[in-house]
Amino acid sequence: MISMSQIKILDKEFRISIPKAQIHDAVTKMADKMNTELAEKDVIFMGILNGSFMFASDLFKLIKLNCCITFVKVASYHGTSSSGVVKSLIGINENIKGKTVVILEDIIDTGGTLENIISQLKGYEPSEIMIATFLFKPEAFKKSYKIDYIGIEIPNDFIVGYGLDYDGYGRNLPEIYTLI
Ligand code: IMP
Ligand code: MG
Repeated sequence: MISMSQIKILDKEFRISIPKAQIHDAVTKMADKMNTELAEKDVIFMGILNGSFMFASDLFKLIKLNCCITFVKVASYHGTSSSGVVKSLIGINENIKGKTVVILEDIIDTGGTLENIISQLKGYEPSEIMIATFLFKPEAFKKSYKIDYIGIEIPNDFIVGYGLDYDGYGRNLPEIYTLI
């Protein structure tokens, strides 16, 4: 029999690894730090869809700054450049020029996705770009840019829940589960 702490999504089994209380504590610590450090800035939070929606929602409810929030998505398509797949940032409607953009990510793994987002964002001339990620896999990270806010560091294992998916499923889980 499968216990409650173990779940199956599609063909794979997962075990609970980060319970709700630990998630809530980590999000609260991030919000407290931001409320202190960003008080003098003109901030726009920028959630990266789909994965960050749950983290962004929980965090934003604890933010006490006078600030804005927007969401963008990274769309992959096959372009004509020699590199093959082009990833473009879609959904930037707000004017971010001169503002402090705080990117909200669900997870930074190798760091490649975010590096691409950062380089595209620079073209919109924000005064600065800061990075907040709920989860971080230090063993997988291959880049050198600074991450300003990290919720929880995790081992280099595949996880689902709290917005993160396995083939589109599992985003609704309120805890985080690790592939067995
Ligand atoms: P990166 O470009 O390697 O940093 O990967 C970042 C993206 O890969 C994230 O935004 C997630 O969508 C996805 N990702 C990385 N690790 C996991 C995981 O353990 N579970 C689910 N999605 C993941
Ligand atoms: Mg993501």
